[in-house]
Amino acid sequence: MNSSAPIGIFDSGIGGLTVAYAVTKLLPNENIIYFGDTAHLPYGDKSAAAIQAYSIKICNVLLQQKCKVILIACNSASAAAFELVKEYVGSKAKVINVIDPIIEYISDNYADKTIGLIGTKQTVNSNIYRKKTDLLGKNIVLKSLATPLLAPMIEEGFFNHTISESIITEYLQNSTLDGIEALILGCTHYPLIKEQIDNYYKGKVSVLDTSEIVAKFLYKYLSENHLLHEMNAYIRHFYVSDYTQSFETSTKIFFGEQIRLEHYPLWE
Ligand code: DGL
Repeated sequence: MNSSAPIGIFDSGIGGLTVAYAVTKLLPNENIIYFGDTAHLPYGDKSAAAIQAYSIKICNVLLQQKCKVILIACNSASAAAFELVKEYVGSKAKVINVIDPIIEYISDNYADKTIGLIGTKQTVNSNIYRKKTDLLGKNIVLKSLATPLLAPMIEEGFFNHTISESIITEYLQNSTLDGIEALILGCTHYPLIKEQIDNYYKGKVSVLDTSEIVAKFLYKYLSENHLLHEMNAYIRHFYVSDYTQSFETSTKIFFGEQIRLEHYPLWE
């Protein structure tokens, strides 16, 4: 593998730009190819079979671009398609998901503790976090709650807002999450409401921003494998399978600045 090859990052849409943003902050020299499957979002309500089919199509695009790493930035796709994608990609690229870095993090920091998870229906119903947590054998109790209203709410720009505050409060008050000491934000969109969730818990629960943990995991992998792009120049492309002006405008919410989206239809 070549260190100047790009990092491929994909998501169901533009929410994965929170992960891409964390990656560009920590690894500013890396070439990035982002793919948002805006034609098929949301993945959170789709079947595993549908998400797997979309993920393979996207991987073909990223492999054509000779990516050294394929980062599945979407929690729902990480839950539904990681094993298949890893097998499909084989030795052509390293495949990283957004779940394993968090599992490693809680393993190091939360043995014998009770942790909460919020995410889409796909992510929570897949039970993948619970299975992986149980495999650690660290006596970590995981309590999960599907919070499907949060992603569309954020996409519509409702965060740091009274509407978002009541929806967040309603979800976090759910007795399923009673007694947790940390909360995993298991969805691309949730870094945008981290502050509001922090305010709700008033420091009593650690709220885990997964995008930063994932970026650090990627950094460690690249540096341990001598794959860091050292040159002080980069190329970035942000592809979407369906283009609208509204998607492009919303990139600002997730990436902190508006970026130019390039239309790349997935299906002929
Ligand atoms: N990217 C998805 C995730 O992280 C959220 C949006 C969707 O449902 O497609 O689970």
